[in-house]
Amino acid sequence: MNRAEKRQTLIGSATLGAAALIAAAMAGLPRETPPAPVAPGRDWAAFGGVGEQHYSPLAQIDRATVGRLGLLWSLDLDDGPNAASAPLAVNGILYFATGYSVIHAVDARTGKQLWRYDPQAPERAGQKMRAAWGIRGIAYAHGRIITGTIDGRLIAIDAATGEPAWSVQTLPKGDASYITGPPWVAGDKVLIGFGGGDFGPVRGYVTAYDLATGRKAWRFYTVPGDPAKGPDGEVSDPIMAKAAKTWTGQWWRYGGGGTVWHAMAYDPARRLVFIGTGNGTPWNRKIRSPQGGDNWFLCSIIALDSETGEYRWHYQVNPGETWDYNAAMDIELATLDIGGRPRDVILHAPKNGFFYVIDRETGKLISAEKFVPANWATRIDRATGRPVETRWARFPNGRAVALYPSPVGAHSAEAMAYSPRTRLVYTPAYEQGRVYVDAPDLADWRFTPGQVINNGIGTAPPDMVLPPGRSALLAWDPVAQRARWRLPQTGQRTGAVTATGGDLLFQGQATGMLTAFDAKDGRALWRFDTQNGAQAQPITYLVGGRQYVTVMASWRAIGPSGRTPEYDYYTTKRRILTFALDAKGRLPAPAPVTPFADDPSFRVDASLAEAGKGLFAAHCAICHGPAANSGGAAPDLRRAAAPLAAESFAAVVRDGALVPRGMPRFAEFDDRTREALRHYIRQQARVARAAGGSSATLTRIAQDARRLHADQ
Ligand code: HEC
Repeated sequence: MNRAEKRQTLIGSATLGAAALIAAAMAGLPRETPPAPVAPGRDWAAFGGVGEQHYSPLAQIDRATVGRLGLLWSLDLDDGPNAASAPLAVNGILYFATGYSVIHAVDARTGKQLWRYDPQAPERAGQKMRAAWGIRGIAYAHGRIITGTIDGRLIAIDAATGEPAWSVQTLPKGDASYITGPPWVAGDKVLIGFGGGDFGPVRGYVTAYDLATGRKAWRFYTVPGDPAKGPDGEVSDPIMAKAAKTWTGQWWRYGGGGTVWHAMAYDPARRLVFIGTGNGTPWNRKIRSPQGGDNWFLCSIIALDSETGEYRWHYQVNPGETWDYNAAMDIELATLDIGGRPRDVILHAPKNGFFYVIDRETGKLISAEKFVPANWATRIDRATGRPVETRWARFPNGRAVALYPSPVGAHSAEAMAYSPRTRLVYTPAYEQGRVYVDAPDLADWRFTPGQVINNGIGTAPPDMVLPPGRSALLAWDPVAQRARWRLPQTGQRTGAVTATGGDLLFQGQATGMLTAFDAKDGRALWRFDTQNGAQAQPITYLVGGRQYVTVMASWRAIGPSGRTPEYDYYTTKRRILTFALDAKGRLPAPAPVTPFADDPSFRVDASLAEAGKGLFAAHCAICHGPAANSGGAAPDLRRAAAPLAAESFAAVVRDGALVPRGMPRFAEFDDRTREALRHYIRQQARVARAAGGSSATLTRIAQDARRLHADQ
């Protein structure tokens, strides 16, 4: 047994053994099976659904029949922290990723595992693991499943056997870049971007590979490099000289950012691929490009020739971006009747709070209106396509300014859906602000190596506290540019939306409910408690003439979901669930939440704990939750065993005992740094216990902690 396996046994989690999985794979599909052709009305074969709309035309489950929908089967998943990616369904087989790109193939009718492929990404990821957790989506084409990995590989896997067909390293090793987004298929190419622009100096690009062989076809850089170094020999070179004129100072020292970390879209008729770019690195333009400038192609949609990667046009939602207002959200393709004629458009609701309708042919703005409160700009000028910023938008002269939306975004990676039947867009919408202020050391600002967020934004003054964020499901009319209806939802974040030909919307929520809403008026027609926050995209597809709905339930946001009791990494199941009409399955009752741990003999040193607070916020909170209050995406360390003893804590944090399970290694921390973190965790556990935590299984936890230590 390796350490991770020991640890798994310790926390009582069960995974399917490798031998059993190989046997299941052998017993599965015959190796000679030809690649299944994708049938658009039957399958859900791409992250964007049918036609890049997160829509399925299937209508067997509709407003009249949805009341008969029930659980067909569910499968518990424990490959680490994350089971929140969008599944695919092709010819009766479900493909999905758990943990760090562990790919599963499952018979959609029964939930029986056919194969499982583990690319062992955490072991290779190093510090790339610190800022991100596993993959949000995968791709399918010509009998292959394609996935990115956190360590920067793109891997094609035979969909029939689970054997890898090819693997390429698409990112440099050792820097801040990582892959969490889905690959995108465009003709005979597969495209992959990456993230990491909040974390360290990275320069964004998208690379296209030949689907059959994995050979690199082209690479497009999204921001210019150091002009002194000359062209990179990539297709972006001709446009890069022009782009460089929109930057000032020595931006290349910071990488520049503009990563394509999430959405793309493919328009086969035009042979165009649209890529959505992220924020600048660092966020604060005063550091990155001190004399101003639009900073092409940050926060933009860029149209590229899918065959050659050549630039066609771009539309920048935030010229001179400084707020983390990404344009990496869904790029949906639709044909709308505008001004009495059909227009092929892009529908886009980026983080900045405006809903954009853009001409797909030219990249020109058709219209843009606010879909949530936003105070950084008053409007988008239709003639120029540029925002009219408010005077406080760029937090001038060292002022701290409360701006809406926050970097979480008015809309984030949770998919929105467009129904060509109702002609409405359904989007998870967030209302949340953030205090923006310059980092104190603006003139000689540097990245702090290994720190998760490196953005050049300072800390809010203590008297500027904004209300907690709110979430809603919003039905938006993209032609009239106004809301049709708006359903407030529980929690600061909610789930991705799928629209269907049965005029239903399927959406999971922070509360763990998977709900079917009436697409016309938002009435909830059916719901099921998955017992875990279902943020990932639900999908729907046909097998043998019967319509199924599948969702992965695994809360993955930073911090609590808002459900009571909160999800517990140890006892709340991460699952995939499949539903069909007249199925009657039930889930077992949820296990109780692990109590807050304490060692009564531990004396908290207040000043150590205070130092630990800052360290925790900088390095741990992104997974373990703000103020050590986790929503279940990673363990709630106030309930955890390892922090009870310095040795077991060191085994995990310093030596990387849980790296294969998704807990990064922090080898650079000295003994005192780790003690500061431990004192902070103990202090927070005491605070939580005093507020009502139970001590029932405290003895067991303390014993487990000693065992873990003895096992190292
Ligand atoms: C990228 C996400 C991520 C970050 C960042 C992260 N952790 Fe973890 N951590 C995890 C996950 C996931 C696990 C659970 C692994 C498993 O399944 O056993 C974990 C487990 C642990 C455990 C073991 C808990 C137990 O079961 O007793 C400790 C201790 C821990 N982390 C401490 C830290 C500290 C301290 C930091 C910051 C310096 C940190 N982690 C940063 C994801 C993270």
